[in-house]
Amino acid sequence: MSKIHAAITAVGGYVPEYILTNEELTRMMDTNDEWIQTRTGIKERRILKGLDKGSSEMAVEAVKLLLEKRGISPLDIELVICATTTPDMIFPATANIICDKVGMTNAWGFDINAACSGFIFSLTTAAQFIETGRHKKVLLVGVDKMSSIMNYEDRAVSIIFGDGAGAVLLEPDTEGYGVVDSILRTDGSGRVFLHQKAGGSARPATMETVMNKEHYVYQEGKHVFKFAVKNMADVAAEIMERNNLTADNVNWLVPHQANKRIIDATAERMNLPMEKVMINIQKFGNTTNGTLPLCLWEWENQLKKGDNVILAAFGGGFTWGSTYIRWAYDTK
Ligand code: UT7
Repeated sequence: MSKIHAAITAVGGYVPEYILTNEELTRMMDTNDEWIQTRTGIKERRILKGLDKGSSEMAVEAVKLLLEKRGISPLDIELVICATTTPDMIFPATANIICDKVGMTNAWGFDINAACSGFIFSLTTAAQFIETGRHKKVLLVGVDKMSSIMNYEDRAVSIIFGDGAGAVLLEPDTEGYGVVDSILRTDGSGRVFLHQKAGGSARPATMETVMNKEHYVYQEGKHVFKFAVKNMADVAAEIMERNNLTADNVNWLVPHQANKRIIDATAERMNLPMEKVMINIQKFGNTTNGTLPLCLWEWENQLKKGDNVILAAFGGGFTWGSTYIRWAYDTK
């Protein structure tokens, strides 16, 4: 019997309506449009507004769109994996909440937290359930409401992040399409450079942690940038080499959208012309777990069956990795 691959067979995405522009940020902190665009490539990002609205609000919209496009019922989904760093609450898992809101009552589910690499870590995890024959329909959601952990007085961090969600469906394929290979890495010593100091079991919320603003993202940008540029480019080059891919036969790079300069360095290392690189950082910023599926959602119509697609990400942890997919369908 031919090997079962996990193929992406549908994509959905959602970004909230509210647009936070660089211009609006200049009214909140000491920054300017020119600095933000030159240093990051970002012009604007989306923000989820409204009381008591968490990541699941956006995930639900992306999932509903996906199910409608694929023409299947919520009841057909067997497993939901939600990659997120900003779950609706610490527990239960946001995957549970999404299942409930969408009516995926036959599915089990769980969350994966690998910061900005969460989507590719989850893609590899999800693919196992298809490759082993355990499940036929696995839904993977990448979502973050980064605005919920952003200190809009911290100009070095808050300017890069935004809110958004993307979702992909994985189904079995026996013709060689789907997830072919992945390389995933972690280095926990990097946690000191990018983390949320309080709110976990080591440092639960107190008046003091709130007053000290320890529930926001803490990032030493320069250090993270240095590691991201090197590791994301290295791992993308490594997966190409290991699969005998060259710049000529790679059709698309789908990079994590943290900083346009990191994306450029990765493309350069792979020798790829920029027209093969999916970039939407200018309008969505860094949506953490949302970046990769939001790219696939936006570029879906341009992807062709058989295209060689390389995903690459780097994030807090540190975590990083790259996944090689042979794209499984043409969009009609
Ligand atoms: O997504 C997961 C992982 N995260 C990343 O990959 C992010 C990686 N890091 C970065 O993308 C960049 O480090 C940032 C965009 C966050 C910051 O850019 P940078 O070029 O590393 O700036 P910097 O922090 O080294 O600051 C350079 C200068 C400083 O001024 P002085 O000390 O040279 O006078 C900052 O105070 O720019 C200043 N600065 C700003 N100026 C205007 C920092 N942020 C801003 C700002 N507006 N928003």
